Amino acid sequence: MDRLKIAILGFGSVGKGLAKIIADKNLGIIITAIADSKSGIIDNKGLNVAKVLRAKKKTGLCGDTSVTPQKIIETAEYDVLVEVTPTNATTGQPALDYIKSALSRGKNVVTSNKGPIALEYKVLQKMADDNDCLLKYEATVCGAIPIIHALQHGLAGNKIKKIYGVFNGTCNYILTRMSDEKLTYKQALLEARELGYAESDPTYDIKGIDAAIKLVILANTVLGFDKTLDDVEITGIDNMSSDAIGLALEDGKTIRLIGEIDAERETLSVAPRILPKNHILVVKDTLNAVTARTDLAGDVTLIGKGAGSFETASAIISDLLYIKENHGGRN
Ligand code: HSE
Repeated sequence: MDRLKIAILGFGSVGKGLAKIIADKNLGIIITAIADSKSGIIDNKGLNVAKVLRAKKKTGLCGDTSVTPQKIIETAEYDVLVEVTPTNATTGQPALDYIKSALSRGKNVVTSNKGPIALEYKVLQKMADDNDCLLKYEATVCGAIPIIHALQHGLAGNKIKKIYGVFNGTCNYILTRMSDEKLTYKQALLEARELGYAESDPTYDIKGIDAAIKLVILANTVLGFDKTLDDVEITGIDNMSSDAIGLALEDGKTIRLIGEIDAERETLSVAPRILPKNHILVVKDTLNAVTARTDLAGDVTLIGKGAGSFETASAIISDLLYIKENHGGRN
């Protein structure tokens, strides 16, 4: 097929990383439109990504203030809308409306945005089915780890009894730095923010909400449940003291924020847990680690980078190439 045309909404860390990779690698994908929170740009023949990135760096804008996301959705030529604006866990907006608008026009959608998928997965999937297009969201859970693909396809035929592990890179980074370098909680959080791992509102990370949203997404999309954030029992790491970590270390243990879906009991929880230092889920820095407990394959653990610009873009690209191969980019 011809090159896959994509329009990107959101030009922060993830959007820029994605654009760079598409410009650098010969993936058969071209970008015809980009919007950030204040401006947008359209070129149906394919944008000059280096030029847009330079403009963004110099002016803070990727394009013209008259080009809105809605204008892009309605007027640009694209096969896939890539929605990578920041997550709003309460309303899912404005991303939810952008995604609905594209799906109702029969456009495929790839998103890294957890809000819309956690809040309205079933509605969005039905819209995609009704309009003969694909909705893909691999980047919403565990960044670079292909966890959704692994659970939906790689472990197909297995009964999944539990899914549990480290789902938030920012908390894992903070806990690692507190444990290994004896930083205070505040120092470690500051570092995580400076390195760009935290959500735009970092309370989502440290209060365990980001991990809980990821559990809701897995529960609803992989296990067919109908859970909301209110169904998750959540304890974050915002009250974590250096003393608590010190005590665990004295005992040869450490602390990690663990999310768990018990598929048999249909319960979801997020809480700090004391684990032996050599436990498979005790990964360092922004790594995520997820174990699926299954009836046939036993325990399968995937470990990889759960946050970061190129890492998240990796998951988006795998969704885009899946659409290119399986849907012919036919919208
Ligand atoms: N803030 C998230 C994290 C980014 O730290 O894991 C990826 O969802």
